[in-house]
Amino acid sequence: MPPLASFLLDRDGTVTDKAVEHYRMRAAGGPAMIIMEACAVSREGIVSFHQARIDEDRFVEGLSKIVRVVKAEGAIPAVQIHHGGRQTSVKVIGRRPLAPSPLPCPAIRGEVEALTVSGIRELVQKFGDAAVRVREAGFELLELHGAHGYLINQFLSPYSNIRQDAYGGDLEGRTRFAREVLQEVRRRLGPDFPVSFKISAQEFVSNGLTLEESIAALKILIPEGIDMVQVSAGNDATPEWICQPMFMKKACLADSARAVKKAVNIPVMSVGRINDPFIAERIIAEEKADLVCIGRGLLADPEMPKKAEEGRFDDIRTCIACNTCMESIFKKGRVECLVNPTLGREQEMAILPARNPRKIMVVGGGPGGMDASWVAAQRGHRVDLYEKGPALGGQLIPGSATTYKKEMLSLIRFQSKQMRRYGVRVHLNREIQPEDVLSEKPDVVIVATGSLPAVPRLEGIEHEIVCPFSSVLDGKRPLPRETVVIGGGPTGCEVAFHLSEQGCPVTVVEMLPKAGKGLEAINKKVLFAKLAAKGVRFLTGCRPLRITAQGVWIKEAADKERFLPAGRVVLATGIRPNTALYDRIKDMGFEVYRIGDCLEPRTAKDAILEGARLGRIL
Ligand SMILES: Cc1cc2nc3c(=O)[nH]c(=O)nc-3n(C[C@H](O)[C@H](O)[C@H](O)COP(=O)(O)OP(=O)(O)OC[C@H]3O[C@@H](n4cnc5c(N)ncnc54)[C@H](O)[C@@H]3O)c2cc1C
Ligand SMILES: Cc1cc2nc3c(=O)[nH]c(=O)nc-3n(C[C@H](O)[C@H](O)[C@H](O)COP(=O)(O)O)c2cc1C
Repeated sequence: MPPLASFLLDRDGTVTDKAVEHYRMRAAGGPAMIIMEACAVSREGIVSFHQARIDEDRFVEGLSKIVRVVKAEGAIPAVQIHHGGRQTSVKVIGRRPLAPSPLPCPAIRGEVEALTVSGIRELVQKFGDAAVRVREAGFELLELHGAHGYLINQFLSPYSNIRQDAYGGDLEGRTRFAREVLQEVRRRLGPDFPVSFKISAQEFVSNGLTLEESIAALKILIPEGIDMVQVSAGNDATPEWICQPMFMKKACLADSARAVKKAVNIPVMSVGRINDPFIAERIIAEEKADLVCIGRGLLADPEMPKKAEEGRFDDIRTCIACNTCMESIFKKGRVECLVNPTLGREQEMAILPARNPRKIMVVGGGPGGMDASWVAAQRGHRVDLYEKGPALGGQLIPGSATTYKKEMLSLIRFQSKQMRRYGVRVHLNREIQPEDVLSEKPDVVIVATGSLPAVPRLEGIEHEIVCPFSSVLDGKRPLPRETVVIGGGPTGCEVAFHLSEQGCPVTVVEMLPKAGKGLEAINKKVLFAKLAAKGVRFLTGCRPLRITAQGVWIKEAADKERFLPAGRVVLATGIRPNTALYDRIKDMGFEVYRIGDCLEPRTAKDAILEGARLGRIL
């Protein structure tokens, strides 16, 4: 398991019981080694509140608790040490961020201060002090974070290092900081303590590190005491190469690991969208790397290695690379996962046998209803799930229609498998009416009936060219027509992508000043680049006025009216809760619960969390 910031620590970086349990569970799942998340070596190197820290002795005790549980579960406890450099803010560290050169972080954009030579020396000492604490806490391997546009990477790369002194310029100069850090770590830990180095072998920015230059840098650095290298990619301008979204191919960095492996004589770890044990196996078999790192895959399912070993492949809850984890650490200050509601809630979400097994009727076979069903059935309840459509999956079915979202289907497969495993009785093509509830006489009814498209009040909405988004994402090949999509939220953007992939010219009309509100940042960046490449036109700050048989009249920001010719108009104007059944049964005297979009239209993540919670408390 590579380092994955969980931020399940106190605001000041103190290790919490939650963090200990998080790592215990991951170790119990069977990985050979766990590299604990990046721990800051210095107060001004912290990138966010809740980041793990190793810059003071007081953190050692907490870190040693993680070491103990990881070892007790049979994995090697390792840890990454880290300095954020320019990738932080005054708000977090109380001063201007320090970096090799005064170039602002492209993502944060605040003012940055160039390190002085004495400042650099102080930092080198701090890396050494942190290394001693690594050993004191009991870790058995130390990893230096030399990747992802953080301080060491900033020094290595001409993209972020424009110093004229001995710490900049040619590769010799740009590797100097890393060399001094390695020398100090070795001086303090001796020659035998295993040290790994994580590198962004390709930064994918102009003037950034290329594979060739990274290999040259590694050849300079390895003799200073690196025992193993983790080959990653990306920096603060290219986060899509750090946490590769669902658009990227699986194991997309394995070939760069192979190139490094061919050039160096130490073990190489490959990381990046290795979310499946078969792919992991292939990387090793093809000798692309000596070790594979599975990051988000173990957030989604900590037991993936164990399940693979036991041949229980379809019990694996696969990471879909939605990057909810990345988004949640920075937006919520703690890690969360769309497919795994227990992540970060390991203690509160334990599954205990039901004290009083009951007859439960679940209405709706979307992600919410499915999770509630199998969890309740696992606990011993008798569960029947009714779905009015011919298949399970709910809105995830249109939600996985576009090419880059096919992996969402793995979530439906996982939930369906768990329902079979725990004996949920599934009734497809059964639309439940209040009379059915009366005749079934369940002890509990879970209403998970999802949502309905919100149809805007627009003149001409009845024209034949108008259709809801669901009819475009129905799995059939759409006719090649010029299309106007009304609504530029996540669904509108997805529809636009889908149609543009089929060769349709697409214009998206959005009332807000920007389209894509609600999309996760990294997926959004890649999606919008692809939409632009496909020529999708966005008209933001515009309101649709009326639809005709030939297109749509809109009002632009300057109150100008404009006609957009179209052979198809797709409505992606939001959804509203489908409460028809709930409203009619809520006062009938049953114990009734509502979950997911039927409560309030949001995301599959919310629906699954609510289902998972309800399944545990009934
Ligand atoms: C195009 C698209 C893309 C999306 N992409 C994402 C994404 O990337 N990430 C994300 O987190 N979320 C995404 N979502 C949202 C997500 O799919 C929903 O939030 C989620 O499916 C809600 O789950 P649910 O179980 O509450 O309801 P639903 O998935 O809507 O399921 C409700 C089910 O109930 C059934 N039903 C309704 N009434 C009855 C009845 N009376 N009897 C029997 N069955 C009934 C329906 O047929 C349906 O199958 C997307 C949605 C769409 C439309
Ligand atoms: C939530 C999250 C936190 C991360 N934190 C770190 C970190 O602390 N140090 C690091 O080197 N990489 C970090 N990464 C990157 C991962 O180690 C890994 O390189 C990346 O997620 C790609 O691998 P994966 O597809 O197996 O997840 C993080 C990634 C995620 C999603």
